[in-house]
Amino acid sequence: MHLTNEELKQKIHEYKKKLSVTVVAHFYQRDEVFEIGDITGDSLELAQKTRADDSEFVVFCGVGFMGQSVKVLSPNKRVVMPKAACCAMATMIDGMQYDASVKALNEAGVPNENILPITYINSNADVKAKVGKMGGMVCTSSNAKKIITTALQEGKKILFVPDRCLGQNIANQMGLRSCVLGDGTNPADADIICYNGFCSVHQLFSVDDIAFYRKKYPGILIVVHPECDPAICDAADFVGSTSQIIKYIKELPEEQKVAVGTEFNLVNRLRTKNTYVLSSTKPECPTMNETTLKDVYDVLKSIDEGEPLNEIFIDEDTQSWAKIALERMMAL
Ligand code: 13P
Ligand code: SF4
Repeated sequence: MHLTNEELKQKIHEYKKKLSVTVVAHFYQRDEVFEIGDITGDSLELAQKTRADDSEFVVFCGVGFMGQSVKVLSPNKRVVMPKAACCAMATMIDGMQYDASVKALNEAGVPNENILPITYINSNADVKAKVGKMGGMVCTSSNAKKIITTALQEGKKILFVPDRCLGQNIANQMGLRSCVLGDGTNPADADIICYNGFCSVHQLFSVDDIAFYRKKYPGILIVVHPECDPAICDAADFVGSTSQIIKYIKELPEEQKVAVGTEFNLVNRLRTKNTYVLSSTKPECPTMNETTLKDVYDVLKSIDEGEPLNEIFIDEDTQSWAKIALERMMAL
């Protein structure tokens, strides 16, 4: 039976009243899915707010690592994903690739006791667990600078995984030396050694896009996410996480023109006659876009029928070490 979006919304609303569920949605979700979220936000806010919530089930509209973070922090909650969608960046590193990166550092003369690993929250629980076991922690795009500043106080080199752009951007902001594993630089000569992962969506923005907008609208502000290439972040007026971008734009005078370099759904929701998407293509995150209202309805129905779809399970060892890595971040 085909249901319209309005009918699906009504049924979702009824399930929400009947079941002990909280629907959580990241800013990059489709509008109609974002609108039914009881909790919305950036990846850090979602992990924090969901932890404080007391429903039995969390229906997580986002990508796998985000749902996993909720499960890791609150193992007693039952976390289900309307769509088993994966962040492309998070899939660029697994536990074996993490071990190989540490080995490469050891071979370059950096022993384990001189390495402090930091993983961007956009990584799967197995990588977070490896980082936790080595004494490291998680960061998000909104707190990466703070986490790295604290980590550097230990006087060690930072192995930053998986996003090379975020790692390099923070290093540039702080005047630190960075390199990407395998780029030919001796890791012993860098303060932050980045794994070679990236976000394909944020690679879509170019310095030509920035030049185009600056020429077309003199005085325009360029705002980007730190997953963009360092050349883009250097040329921008403001670099921030999704929440920081929203706050920055909302505080601008209405007549101020601004071009924004992050995922399309978020920018489109902010769009006014003076807000532009910083790209000639549509920068949609394919996996964030996978979740539809129908998927949310199906997963709620499966909970009601006692056989939840796409429930997240994490083995105990991975869960406890990943939790340590996440909690070290939360403590800061
Ligand atoms: P935020 O942490 O800013 O929400 O970003 C998550 C993400 O996946 C960006 O591509
Ligand atoms: Fe992952 Fe990039 Fe999508 Fe964010 S926008 S979820 S980093 S693929």
